[in-house]
Amino acid sequence: MTKIEKIVLSYSGGLDTSIILKWLQETYGCEVVTFTADLGQGEELEPARAHAEMAGVKDIRIVDLREEFVSDFVFPMLRANALYEGQYLLGSSIARPLIAKHLVGIAREVGADAVAHGATGKGNDQIRFELAVNALDPSIKVIAPWRQWNIRSRLQLSEYAEKQRIPVPSDKRGEAPFSIDANLLHTSTEGKSLENPAEVAPDHVYQRTVDPVDAPDTPEIITVGFERGDPVSVNGKAMTPAALLTELNGLGGRHGVGRLDLVENRFIGMKSRGIYETPGGTILLAAHRGIESITLDRAAAHLKDEIMPRYAELIYNGFWFAPEREMLQALIDHSQAFVSGEVTLRLYKGSASVISRASPCSLYSADLVTFEESTIAFDHHDAEGFIRLNGLRLRSWAARNGR
Ligand code: ARG
Repeated sequence: MTKIEKIVLSYSGGLDTSIILKWLQETYGCEVVTFTADLGQGEELEPARAHAEMAGVKDIRIVDLREEFVSDFVFPMLRANALYEGQYLLGSSIARPLIAKHLVGIAREVGADAVAHGATGKGNDQIRFELAVNALDPSIKVIAPWRQWNIRSRLQLSEYAEKQRIPVPSDKRGEAPFSIDANLLHTSTEGKSLENPAEVAPDHVYQRTVDPVDAPDTPEIITVGFERGDPVSVNGKAMTPAALLTELNGLGGRHGVGRLDLVENRFIGMKSRGIYETPGGTILLAAHRGIESITLDRAAAHLKDEIMPRYAELIYNGFWFAPEREMLQALIDHSQAFVSGEVTLRLYKGSASVISRASPCSLYSADLVTFEESTIAFDHHDAEGFIRLNGLRLRSWAARNGR
């Protein structure tokens, strides 16, 4: 085993990373610094401090990253309307590079030569953490205990915990909890009965959205203001990025917006089934597309839509800190210069529908499109020639085919 001097561990204070903390201390016999990121997961972070103290950790870092998460990661991604495989809003994927960035920053500050994470060997998250660390500081080693120790299942993990007298958590029903990853953008739930995609997810997996069936019978009308592609206000009230997303999570959650039951293709090779709840993100995606619909040129909008799946896949696969992601980001950001204005949406029983949009930079011209008389010169004969020339090759093709 390579000699390690000091390790910075990405530490949630939960069962997995508490065991990892012990294991690292025993296996490497060196100082472990814990880093706990507040990404708005809605969990108390003080227990993490207490657990780390109990494990003898001297340097405990608990950092509020909510604003940075939303302004520097979620919003840039939203400018692209990013969806993986057409549906997933990438709530876990986008958090990993941020955590990795801070792991590397702390490692440099405290002179650690390694960082460690609690992601398993079957998932995407290990890839995202490690590619980010590679891109940010190739001199830092990464330790992934799940790939090294001989614990092979969650059951064995609980047994090890009991032996080490680490408290094993259970959910409200006294059962082993699902595998949950939560932050300001989403809650992702995997494992247990969800591993059978033929089985309907039980109601109690949902954490932050009501069942649309139980949502209020009266719709709620909200407005979202945008400036240069980023949301800046809700119902006319200016808010910081994290406050804005928090507000929309509350509104969306009450109306059952943003639930997704998905089987996706992991980068590592297998399919997996998960339940996602992304209430605020779902509202923002609809609203952003709404404001883009009047402010973006057609070709610009279509080019964005062409590169979007590629951009989303880069984020899903862990290439946030990669030259090609930065190049695409530059293109996307450039397109947003005039994406400003206000979008009104109706939240109702699971849906967030755009019902109006307005912008000082709008390209929409009622005078041009109108069915009534117009002051703008539009020669209808031009349309005839436009169609005749576009049809030229189709007429040749059809004649050859003998139609
Ligand atoms: N499958 C999702 C992704 O790869 C979520 C992964 C983390 N979620 C979890 N419940 N452990 O982005």
